[in-house]
Amino acid sequence: MAYENIVFEKDGPVAIIKFNRPKALNAINPELLEEAHDALDNIEEDRSLKVLVITGEGEKAFVAGADIAHMVNLSPLEARDFSRTGQEFMARLEALHLPVIACVNGYALGGGTEIAMASDFIYASEKAKFGQPEINLGVIPGFGGTQRLPRLVGKARAKELCMTGGMIGAAEAKEIGLVNKVFPPERLWEETMKTAKNIASKGKVSLKAVKECIERGGNVDLTDGCLMESDNFGLCMASPDGKEGMTAFLEKREPRFKGELP
Ligand code: CAA
Repeated sequence: MAYENIVFEKDGPVAIIKFNRPKALNAINPELLEEAHDALDNIEEDRSLKVLVITGEGEKAFVAGADIAHMVNLSPLEARDFSRTGQEFMARLEALHLPVIACVNGYALGGGTEIAMASDFIYASEKAKFGQPEINLGVIPGFGGTQRLPRLVGKARAKELCMTGGMIGAAEAKEIGLVNKVFPPERLWEETMKTAKNIASKGKVSLKAVKECIERGGNVDLTDGCLMESDNFGLCMASPDGKEGMTAFLEKREPRFKGELP
């Protein structure tokens, strides 16, 4: 598929999706979502990839939300479908077998904050702004914001953001636990790629296992979460990478992970 609304690249084991509608501040329309789904299909098939970085093209925005010019004409049923297609994309990011880093270079509003939250963690520029401004449009978040935001920052802060429709800067987003690290704009990409490549040097089986345990563990009680952890711990031990990592430590050398399944 030829991409017009995203840029999809690979830098060794790191896949990169850039939302690419800078004239509309990378707002999400159905075409962009379709292309992003197609890029995820490609990522799922390419066994050489180990990390996905998502970011926005241009100086100003990560993603300024769903495309309001598209939404304004939707019937209620079409709006529900649009919301569900967006939610499916977020669910795919969350369930992807690779770690996903959101590199938030500017405005991440509405659907932009929602995409960032469906990633595994967020690195942001000092210029980034986050928010769920849908209330200002007479609607509510539709790509999972009312569900992921309270899980990340607590109910009261999520309600405040969704009810006021206000924006917060990167420093405040870090303070409330939405963002992991904040960098000057000129260092954001370099720092994100440094972390992406560090993660890519780890074993694929254990990366998938740790993502799944933390992600799914949030939806079950502690006992079941710990059972899931021990199953995955055993799975890692059965994989060649588990043996390789520990043998390399004992032999005082760097591990050579191959990502082969047990
Ligand atoms: N949809 C469509 N177009 C958008 C857009 C959006 N979400 N955000 C920005 N644009 C367009 C503007 O219409 C403008 O286009 P023109 O040049 O053709 O007029 C262009 O991008 C540049 O934007 P501004 O001129 O507004 O730039 P600014 O610097 O003055 O303001 C901004 C930047 C504060 C981000 C402002 O653009 C803004 O408030 N955007 C809307 C943010 C928003 O409400 N997002 C939520 C969308 S709803 C949603 O996401 C629902 C959901 O969960 C599914």
